[in-house]
Amino acid sequence: MTHEPRPIIIDCDPGQDDAVNLLLALSSPEDLEVLGLTAVAGNVGLEKTQRNARLMCELAGRGDVPVFAGCERPFLRPLVTAEYVHGREGIDGADIHEPTHPLEDAHAIDFIVDTLMAGDGNITLVPTGPLTNVAAAIVKEPKIVSRIAEIVLMGGASREGGNVTPSAEFNIYVDPHAAKIVFGCGRPLIVHGLDVTHQVIATPDRVTAFAEIGNAAGRTVAQMLNFSSRYDVEKYGTSGGPLHDPCTAAYLLKPDLFRGKRVNIEIETASELTLGETSVDFWGVSGREPNALWIYEVDADGVFALLTERLSRLP
Ligand code: BDR
Ligand code: CA
Repeated sequence: MTHEPRPIIIDCDPGQDDAVNLLLALSSPEDLEVLGLTAVAGNVGLEKTQRNARLMCELAGRGDVPVFAGCERPFLRPLVTAEYVHGREGIDGADIHEPTHPLEDAHAIDFIVDTLMAGDGNITLVPTGPLTNVAAAIVKEPKIVSRIAEIVLMGGASREGGNVTPSAEFNIYVDPHAAKIVFGCGRPLIVHGLDVTHQVIATPDRVTAFAEIGNAAGRTVAQMLNFSSRYDVEKYGTSGGPLHDPCTAAYLLKPDLFRGKRVNIEIETASELTLGETSVDFWGVSGREPNALWIYEVDADGVFALLTERLSRLP
């Protein structure tokens, strides 16, 4: 059966796991029409996240995908970065150079607004970094909200606890005010937090399978994950690091690999202690209306099989 590819915009802060997510999406043109990549400051500064997004287009042989730079700092808080996980360049382990793939002149916020306004309501946003660009686009042009098909994002934590504070996951913590805008926007949200991403572990066998594909993309993914895993292995005592952001493209490609529950999720912005916490009402005790599908279970072998198969399509 043939189907039209689903149009998406990926908003990201690469980051090795963002980079793998980009390769997964870019290797799946019959399923996903990547209208553009928008970069935001997060794991590293904007200069590096936009360059890293362009490097992934180059690696995937996707000269047709435009890349836009967005916001270089969160709404209200100073930028917090994560070189301690991802390295100085954000995608350490990869071959890092100035890519020939160009950076578009337009600002990411304008690209998101213009693209959604020109669309017919079928465009899905896929944020895998702090939500600054997406929230700023909503603030700039609130009419875009009704034009968003879905927002499939990586962010938040509940039972698993936070990874940057005891309460908060990195993407939400970096810009909790932006997250509050996005989680309150009223469009369908599909949320992959640490509860599910910590089930998707890049074990040595799985990383070796990427290297053994024998192409540049597979080798690069293996090298990047070998770099970023060292921090997580030490921190969590696991045999590999969690592959957070690829849950988003994997969900778009094979939603049956995931299980979720419709819940209410609110973002903490007032307390210094629990800033950026996602308050996930899993048991419906608040009486608040569900605003998100909270993904909490995944077939991790299925995600890695999908990744290996799709990466093998790349140069
Ligand atoms: C998230 O934070 C970043 O370090 C990763 O790229 C991922 O998006 C996980 O908390
Ligand atoms: Ca990310």
